[in-house]
Amino acid sequence: MNMALSPANEVSETEFFRRDVIAGLRKEQKTLPCKYLYDKEGSRIFEQICELSDYYLTRTEAGIFRDHLPHMAKLIGPDSVIIEPGAGNCEKVEPLLQALEEPRAYIPMDISPEILLAARTRIRRQLPDLKVEAHVGDFTAPEAWQGVSRQSPGGRRVIFFPGSTIGNFDPEAARQLLADFAAHLSTKDGILIGTDLVKDTVVLERAYNDSEHVTANFNKNLLTRINSELGGDFDLDAFAHRSFYHALKQRVEMHLVSLKPQRVHIAGECFDFAEGETIHTENSHKYTLEGFAEMLREAGFTLVHQWTDGGGLYAIHYAEIR
Ligand SMILES: C[S@@+](CC[C@H](N)C(=O)[O-])C[C@H]1O[C@@H](n2cnc3c(N)ncnc32)[C@H](O)[C@@H]1O
Repeated sequence: MNMALSPANEVSETEFFRRDVIAGLRKEQKTLPCKYLYDKEGSRIFEQICELSDYYLTRTEAGIFRDHLPHMAKLIGPDSVIIEPGAGNCEKVEPLLQALEEPRAYIPMDISPEILLAARTRIRRQLPDLKVEAHVGDFTAPEAWQGVSRQSPGGRRVIFFPGSTIGNFDPEAARQLLADFAAHLSTKDGILIGTDLVKDTVVLERAYNDSEHVTANFNKNLLTRINSELGGDFDLDAFAHRSFYHALKQRVEMHLVSLKPQRVHIAGECFDFAEGETIHTENSHKYTLEGFAEMLREAGFTLVHQWTDGGGLYAIHYAEIR
């Protein structure tokens, strides 16, 4: 496996983190980019979230893959190159790679190098003939794609984007990200992408406020990360996790609520919080089948197929550049 480092990583990941944190906390609605939730510890806690019974997304998506992998593999065809932005622990792709007819290469990309490194041994052991080329970097940054070949000498190049990661982007940014993905592909190449669907508020809010408080730990880990990497002095006991469904915007919002008036210092700057003031840390947008098909079309893709579970909780879409 080739661990390619993007120029962004070479400059200074900590400096980008510092700039984004300072800029986000200076806003009227304080905010922090959700990509920073995934340091080593955040990625570990996210894996715990995926195991929670309240968090239906991971197992529902896995069930759809289990039921429809042969159909997906047939649509993708032989000799493919699978590119996975935000690959995480690279677990979801394994059954797909195994179902595909002689896949040529797998290219996982993630902002968290530790998790990609941990996946290396496992994938090598399971698929010794597959070329695996990992890229560490921010998949929204053009630099992260520099080393990713635009040509496939064989079959299709397919972007694999499961886990409802697209839901972390506001609709306009999601449309732009899909258009950017399309620009990295050529005619006949495709995208296999998972989205969470609009559903009952109770089910949604339970998924992001689990009874074991794992999501709360995940959210608060961002403050721990700021404390350790940027010399911040967040008092973790003075903030609480809060998630709720915003029906109009069709998204679950995740916040950290200040439990008292307080001042926090980070990298030589100070930030004042009123009691009840929040830092907005993540959005998880929910889609309808029609709404997401439209978004794919607007981004330059032609929808080929959509699969859902029996309960209509989650969807996987396959679309191509025609
Ligand atoms: C919601 S998890 C999904 C992981 C995996 N694809 C799955 O479906 O289980 C998001 C993953 O994307 C990575 N990630 C989030 N934003 C990223 C970005 N802008 N660039 C690169 N990786 C990112 C995180 O480190 C994390 O591993």
